[in-house]
Amino acid sequence: MNVMIIGSGGREHALAWKIKQSSKCEKIYIAPGNGGTGNIAINLHIDIKDFREIANVIKEHAISILIIGPEEPLVKGLVDFLKGEKSLKELKIIGPSANGAQLEGSKEYAKEFMIRHKIPTAVSKTVTKKNLEETLKYMERLEPPYVLKADGLARGKGVIITEEPEEARKSLKNLIADKKFGEAGEKVLLEEFLKGTEVSFFVITDGKDYQILPEAKDYKRIGEKDTGLNTGGMGAVSPVVFADRAFKEKVNRQIIRPTIKGLQKEGIHYCGFIFFGLMNVGGEPYVIEYNVRMGDPETEVVMPRIKGDFLDLLVAAADGNLNETKIEYEKFTAATVVYVSRGYPECYEKGHEISVGDTKSVLLFHAGTKIRNGKLVTNGGRVMASTGLGKDLDEALSKSYAGGDELQWKGKKFRQDIGFDLKALGQ
Ligand code: AMP
Ligand code: GLY
Repeated sequence: MNVMIIGSGGREHALAWKIKQSSKCEKIYIAPGNGGTGNIAINLHIDIKDFREIANVIKEHAISILIIGPEEPLVKGLVDFLKGEKSLKELKIIGPSANGAQLEGSKEYAKEFMIRHKIPTAVSKTVTKKNLEETLKYMERLEPPYVLKADGLARGKGVIITEEPEEARKSLKNLIADKKFGEAGEKVLLEEFLKGTEVSFFVITDGKDYQILPEAKDYKRIGEKDTGLNTGGMGAVSPVVFADRAFKEKVNRQIIRPTIKGLQKEGIHYCGFIFFGLMNVGGEPYVIEYNVRMGDPETEVVMPRIKGDFLDLLVAAADGNLNETKIEYEKFTAATVVYVSRGYPECYEKGHEISVGDTKSVLLFHAGTKIRNGKLVTNGGRVMASTGLGKDLDEALSKSYAGGDELQWKGKKFRQDIGFDLKALGQ
């Protein structure tokens, strides 16, 4: 069957890499893809904001199954649009409709959903212009750190965490009054700070049943030892040592199952991935956020750890047959290091020529790259992810870094300490 993937990151490259191993996969199209995806799939240079154009290429290339990588088209209703097309009745789609995508599209919605279904999460209060003054007063009685979250999609930049009461109040005012994050800033969640270690869980669901994919931990901050600005993710590892059998059982019972059941109860038909961003607080899992897609760079370590035919699993999800499937994980450890452009996550440079040496011992996933006049050049903040596989974290990481050493461009940056906290725990 012909497969189409929407997106252009390392996540989409890793999805394509895994799907391509299926004997049922004929052609893979990626819209728009990047400078690396063209080697294993066919890049379609279309504007993914243009839903009509997406529908047209699906018809033109006889696509059987569509996988939507990023959140924005989901939140904006791409799935609803395609389901409304009579000529695409047979199309299988991995990704929720706009109502399901609210789990990521609105932090307030997600919070209320979790409260309705008794899913553990940080206590929070929604702040708007109306209750701003009383909230500023109320904050005088709160202990730091303060967590502020813009309600809508803010491309990973909508969260402010600060120890300083004055800064917290100023940030809250700015978020609401200045609409620093555009529409996402009209409502803000003031949230309890959860102290613990983060871990990401992923499921694929058909709306009734689900399969849990390998868990991962990503490293979001730009600086070593988790300091500096938040990024999309600078590296990831899977498995995660503290996510043992008992912890996973709690995650399944207290978080995953009630989420799937909650969606069903509320009449939301959800077929796609759910990404649970969790905090492990003294052995108890709490939800920090839901995402309605796979993580990036987590996908670059999750895909290699799934045994067997991933396309079969996706087809079963789209057909509502996940209860008939089984998922098995590879035992090895996967680690990925993301190589970025100088200046990222703020203003960064683009257009530098990339040279790729011998990367045969790693899985090299492209993100912000493109082909310009026949040459590979940088085209984004996160440029490439080098995934190493090994018997343990040390081996996986040393491979991953060795692969990364083979990449060159002007201003290449990366974190040297991916996995540092897990190594300290003895993984
Ligand atoms: P988000 O955009 O929701 O993923 O948040 C970005 C980062 O902020 C998360 O990865 C956490 O590290 C941190 N964070 C978000 N909410 C909380 C919270 N309630 N307590 C502690 N850290 C948080
Ligand atoms: N790596 C975090 C995310 O994909 O949102």
